[in-house]
Amino acid sequence: MIQNTEYPESFLRQIEVVGSSDISQEDSEKYWTEHKAGMTWGTQEALSNVWNPQDIAIFGAGKCNDIRLLEVMQRGSVKNIDLYDLDANGLEIAIGYVKSRINSIMPEAINFANFNPVVADVTFMLKNVFKKFNGIRSDFTSDFAPVGPGREQKLIEAILKAIFGALDGRQIPEKQYDVVVSDCILSQILAVFEIQIEKLRDDLLEKQEVSIGLWEDLERDVHGVITKDHFDVLSQMTKPNGAVFVASDSTLLYRGKVSKAHFELLQAMEEKGDLPQEERIRDFGGDYVVEELMIPRFKCMDGDIARMAEKHMPDFEIVESRKWEWNRDPHELQKDGCVFGAEEVQGVVLKRLLTKTRN
Ligand SMILES: C[S@@+](CC[C@H](N)C(=O)[O-])C[C@H]1O[C@@H](n2cnc3c(N)ncnc32)[C@H](O)[C@@H]1O
Repeated sequence: MIQNTEYPESFLRQIEVVGSSDISQEDSEKYWTEHKAGMTWGTQEALSNVWNPQDIAIFGAGKCNDIRLLEVMQRGSVKNIDLYDLDANGLEIAIGYVKSRINSIMPEAINFANFNPVVADVTFMLKNVFKKFNGIRSDFTSDFAPVGPGREQKLIEAILKAIFGALDGRQIPEKQYDVVVSDCILSQILAVFEIQIEKLRDDLLEKQEVSIGLWEDLERDVHGVITKDHFDVLSQMTKPNGAVFVASDSTLLYRGKVSKAHFELLQAMEEKGDLPQEERIRDFGGDYVVEELMIPRFKCMDGDIARMAEKHMPDFEIVESRKWEWNRDPHELQKDGCVFGAEEVQGVVLKRLLTKTRN
């Protein structure tokens, strides 16, 4: 039995992958075929770019519905696969499934690789940041909060300081891998931060103490800091001659919820006629909860993974890059008002550039 995490149930629900929770292993295999092929492709590409790869880490492994681990294991050199996720139960399912397949299909493969579930937050800071956000929240929403000119600026500074403070105080494991895979986890990490700052925003908007413009700037800053940090963690946990594979679903939609700041951004784009016809905003409903709407974030945010990887991982060279769609769950696609049924994933394979670091 894998140890349970210290995270509350509600938090785990927030980060659960969209569309996977109610479907069986068989169904998810059917709907996720292309996505699974993409994840497996990227991992194999990364392995191909490393000599004698032995240790692999998969961040956001969850139930491992979306990667063909048996294929990855079949590379003779692979000895150890660490599966990282916050969700202990998901990892338990993944390990149980793989072991049952190994036993029934290829009993000899069990010798080739160890699977280790690692229940961890791969930002290594979420808990700290939550505490600090709560502190800011009570400071800025209480009657004693400093009012007057410069308050907005102070708020931005306090939020960014909380994030940087949490980054400073955390410990990244020293363990390094030949290949590290970021399995559609960046958008989830970003969404957690969006949800945190939105709570604060709601309190302050109610009191008319912040402007929308401020929030858009702040969201962009937070996106930048968190994205860069994710790439830093990937770099630090990769051996000097290793490779990284980043897959990210860039979506505005998060468990059916569009962030209010994004909603306003989209509204502004629609007013200017900047949104392509098929992505016109439909009926968002009063609270902006739209289960059916899916719009790729990178069209209106600076979320292009390859570009960001190039910018934030200068020691790495992009060796392959590909896009594919996922979440083709027919139940979702058949819903009334479904505008855009499949989310797009970008997979980028990066190899550490030894020569560049020596320059
Ligand atoms: C989009 S899912 C990937 C799908 C997963 N590989 C599967 O097949 O079930 C992202 C996974 O990242 C995990 N996750 C989200 N934020 C995390 C964090 N900060 N640290 C570790 N895992 C996280 C979620 O629990 C989820 O299982």
